[in-house]
Amino acid sequence: MILIKLGGSVITDKTEYRKFNKETVSRLADEIRRSGEEVIIVHGAGSFGHVVSKQFNLQKGYQDDKQIPAMARVMCVTRDLSSMVVEALLAREIPAVSVPIGSCFVADGGKLILDNEEPLRRLTELGIMPVMFGDVITDRQTRFSIVSGDQIMEHLCRMYNPSKVIFVSDIDGLYDKNPKTDRNAKMIGTVTKKKMDEIAMESNVDDVTGGVRNKMESMLRMTDSQRRCYLINGNAPNRLYSLLKGETVTCTVAKGGLE
Ligand code: IPE
Repeated sequence: MILIKLGGSVITDKTEYRKFNKETVSRLADEIRRSGEEVIIVHGAGSFGHVVSKQFNLQKGYQDDKQIPAMARVMCVTRDLSSMVVEALLAREIPAVSVPIGSCFVADGGKLILDNEEPLRRLTELGIMPVMFGDVITDRQTRFSIVSGDQIMEHLCRMYNPSKVIFVSDIDGLYDKNPKTDRNAKMIGTVTKKKMDEIAMESNVDDVTGGVRNKMESMLRMTDSQRRCYLINGNAPNRLYSLLKGETVTCTVAKGGLE
């Protein structure tokens, strides 16, 4: 089994509230179908989730009652987005069902508690892919919190022990600086624990470097001596397909675990 996160930057247009990239998602569903691989998909919230979440500071947890309808609104639009992702999969004859995390799980201080695996396991045993997504969810400590698709990926990684983990985004890989704003940005081909520590040593850890380091760490957390974790560009046709088929593609690959 291969675990895939379709990032919000590739399935939505992050500059426009609730803009779904239907053609891209249909093409990615087709690439998955053609590969013949068994996969589980998690997706981000993109412009469906981030806009209202930011407006009402939902990432800070409960502050005032004005956030409550905003929370319900975010949960409504992330479900809309997920239905569209599932439609694209069904259209390619991939049986899938959206599983909103907030209807079966809670968070505790921002950490997702995935304590009842039975519904997920039973779905996969039936051959139906549970599709989970970044969302706002009730929280034991802060009343609600935002759980990202990346956090869900880590849980599913422990639960399903996939052979590969793939993050599909709108850039070719992980860069040392923001490639969209900095022409000197260099792509990092391979991520290892050693490389991550070297970056941390170059101690002027500004936000971007800190962000890159965090991403390296979260990718490495999903690797071990066997399993690799890839970051690829989903806007490049057939890149996901080729990677699923085991071919070498332009990407960042993390390997070797965090030990
Ligand atoms: C964010 O999920 C969830 C909300 C803002 C409600 P992600 O962090 O996984 O989404 P993307 O991939 O960045 O869009």
